[in-house]
Amino acid sequence: MMRSLTRAAFGVTLLALSGCQFFKSEERVIVQKGYRGTAMEINYVARDVNAAMNDLARQMPAILPPASESSPPPQWQNVQVLNDISVSEFNRTMLSFSTWVGGNPGNCAYCHNIANFAADTYPDGKAIYTKTVARRMIQMTRQINSEWTEHVGNTGVTCYTCHMGKPLPNGLWFYTNENQILRHYLDGAGARVVSQSITPSNANRSSVKQTEWTYALMISQSTALGVNCTFCHNSRQFSSWDQAPPQRVTAHVGIQMLRDVNTNYLAPLASVYHPSRLGTMGDAPKAQCVTCHNGVNKPLYGFAMAKHYPALWGTHTDWVTPAAPAYTRPPAVVMDSAMVMMDSATMAAPVAPTTPPPGR
Ligand code: HEC
Ligand code: HEC
Ligand code: HEC
Ligand code: HEC
Repeated sequence: MMRSLTRAAFGVTLLALSGCQFFKSEERVIVQKGYRGTAMEINYVARDVNAAMNDLARQMPAILPPASESSPPPQWQNVQVLNDISVSEFNRTMLSFSTWVGGNPGNCAYCHNIANFAADTYPDGKAIYTKTVARRMIQMTRQINSEWTEHVGNTGVTCYTCHMGKPLPNGLWFYTNENQILRHYLDGAGARVVSQSITPSNANRSSVKQTEWTYALMISQSTALGVNCTFCHNSRQFSSWDQAPPQRVTAHVGIQMLRDVNTNYLAPLASVYHPSRLGTMGDAPKAQCVTCHNGVNKPLYGFAMAKHYPALWGTHTDWVTPAAPAYTRPPAVVMDSAMVMMDSATMAAPVAPTTPPPGR
């Protein structure tokens, strides 16, 4: 019985937009995450998961029909990143932007001076910050989809993964005294605090405060993914990588990806945003796990939306001197059926982190 429940795939079923049911039952469901006897399990209230999934399926904008191949070569005036796709693919992408970020199809004015789509300024000469931000967001999305596949796999992300039909994604954070945990974590040092020796020694310099931070961060990760600690740890030894499920390695790569996203893409936009968007210390809004995950272990329940939008897969281009990227169409993406929740029979042997986690 457990097997039939755990084999159900989030991602594939989402395409059928009505009557989604992740769990067949309406009851409480326990999904085993570790080897038998380790009590590593996640409890779901099946009714809530099914309802949340249906809500999402109702809200999600439809995938636009594929663009025709035979459009004329682009002759844009001021296109710095999306110059490697056909005109019809470009238009399709713009239309999607207006839904994913602007909130409704045709809200071009959110990013444009509609008297002159090529302009980066309004008729009065003021900068259209949303357009400049969006240009950088395209580069960031390409960077995530092409350089961070160790985390996002074939599923990838689109603007909708974070924006979900609104300009401001969930989980924005700024530097303040309250959430320094995120600073410490996402653009600071690691979170390891557990002592490696039995007897107290000077080798472990972690303070009680650091330990509290680590705990707060872990709570925020659990909440962001809608899981408990044993999704990533064998709680008999939190620091052990050998005993942890593979998801901990994915999470570790996720932390590094967020550092890249925050330090190289989001934070440097501080000079571009309208001042009303900045934090009290003048910093730009930044992202965290929940910004993509929105309470689910795989964003959008693993629905692979990005593969339908070649504009979001190009090579990462440079910000300061944008050059035409050498664009290669990504290999055909296989619908990810690895979405299956694991039981101990299907669970891969725990793997050591591919990037050796840096020391304290
Ligand atoms: C979320 C922001 C956003 C929305 C919404 C948006 N665009 Fe754009 N648009 C951009 C960005 C950014 C560029 C420049 C892309 C680049 O530099 O690669 C652009 C460029 C363009 C250009 C190229 C102009 C040129 O010659 O340089 C056209 C045409 C265009 N958009 C049309 C539209 C239309 C029509 C809509 C509404 C259906 C729309 N856009 C909605 C962000 C947006
Ligand atoms: C990893 C998550 C993430 C992805 C993916 C993402 N964005 Fe963003 N975006 C953000 C964050 C965080 C902000 C800051 C919100 C703010 O402006 O306060 C933002 C802000 C913006 C803004 C400015 C909104 C405003 O009113 O201030 C625009 C426009 C935008 N993004 C467009 C895009 C487009 C277009 C894409 C896809 C090519 C995209 N974003 C993909 C996280 C993301
Ligand atoms: C989504 C995966 C994930 C979840 C859920 C999670 N953790 Fe972690 N945890 C990690 C990763 C990854 C690290 C290593 C961070 C690093 O190296 O910077 C870590 C590190 C830790 C550490 C420090 C270990 C050391 O070597 O010092 C402790 C303690 C910890 N987690 C406790 C918890 C607790 C308690 C919970 C539940 C509230 C939890 N974790 C939930 C992924 C997770
Ligand atoms: C840019 C968006 C994005 C951000 C930010 C992000 N993730 Fe993810 N994450 C994804 C996507 C997409 C997947 C699904 C990958 C797949 O289908 O293989 C995923 C998958 C995972 C998984 C595997 C889930 C499973 O069921 O096997 C874990 C664990 C995870 N993320 C943890 C984290 C943690 C922890 C953070 C914050 C430190 C984080 N993620 C930040 C996009 C993101």
